[in-house]
Amino acid sequence: MDYAKIIRDLAAEVQPLYGQGKVADYIPELGKVPPRQFGLCLQLNDGISHEFGDSRTKFSIQSISKVFALSKAFGLLGEELWQRVGVEPSGNAFNSLMQLEYEKGIPRNPLINAGALVVTDILVSKFENPKAEILRYLRQLAGTEDIHFNKQVAESERKTGYRNFALAYFLKSFGNLKNEVEQVLDVYFHQCSIEMTCFELANAMQIFSQHGLEPHSGERLLSSSETKRLNAVMQTCGFYDEAGEFTFAVGLPGKSGVGGGIAALLPGQYSIAVWSPELNKKGNSVLGMKALELFTTMTGSSVF
Ligand code: DON
Repeated sequence: MDYAKIIRDLAAEVQPLYGQGKVADYIPELGKVPPRQFGLCLQLNDGISHEFGDSRTKFSIQSISKVFALSKAFGLLGEELWQRVGVEPSGNAFNSLMQLEYEKGIPRNPLINAGALVVTDILVSKFENPKAEILRYLRQLAGTEDIHFNKQVAESERKTGYRNFALAYFLKSFGNLKNEVEQVLDVYFHQCSIEMTCFELANAMQIFSQHGLEPHSGERLLSSSETKRLNAVMQTCGFYDEAGEFTFAVGLPGKSGVGGGIAALLPGQYSIAVWSPELNKKGNSVLGMKALELFTTMTGSSVF
């Protein structure tokens, strides 16, 4: 398969979509990112990679971090995790509050904000220095030490993250947050502020396309059964109220972030990361979604 040509062709096809979306600015620091950027990295399981455009530019991974935090917590806690968070798609916005009230403090899934806060709470309980542990884990997965928090972004979100504060206090009132709200949010805002490139992200996603094997060290970090569950959660919940659309158009498990990144994978075959900062109304990258739809169509590859 001529991946290089396919990627060049799809990149040309998504260019006219610039201007259709809007850079996230509810976290003021994210609003400063120049909008017209596009990067892509395809990492095949056999070690070969293909890159295009701004594939080595760092961007805020935001909610994509939820998948890595989840995999860490699941690896530590096993099936017990699912007593505190469900696995159903929410059909709601990522920061929605209403379901949490009538479902009595058990978030629908670990990829909406409420669920991600429970996952972060688990990491806070397990580690003396959860922020350092999250960085260490991502550096191991991506195979590079050059992964850091963006403290301005974390601080910018802390100052404006009213809905996350509301969700965290709500969870606390239901007894589903064991640590202090401020502490859990501090870790959560930092994990969201992590900056990575498409190249690094595609590498970090290899754990999910390699059935739990971390390819840089050859270490097994997750069982294939755990990886199956995590991929299933990404498939059904990774795009919030656009999870159906992403599955329909792209057909891969994946996760988006309001920094404009999308990371996805085909188990046993490849991982792929795209980034373009302009978002649609549901908070997903306009060019990124289209690029992945074109990629799976042109390569004839998808889990379906
Ligand atoms: O909690 C927030 O609002 C952000 N730190 C992350 C949101 C996000 O990336 C949602 N994804 N599309």
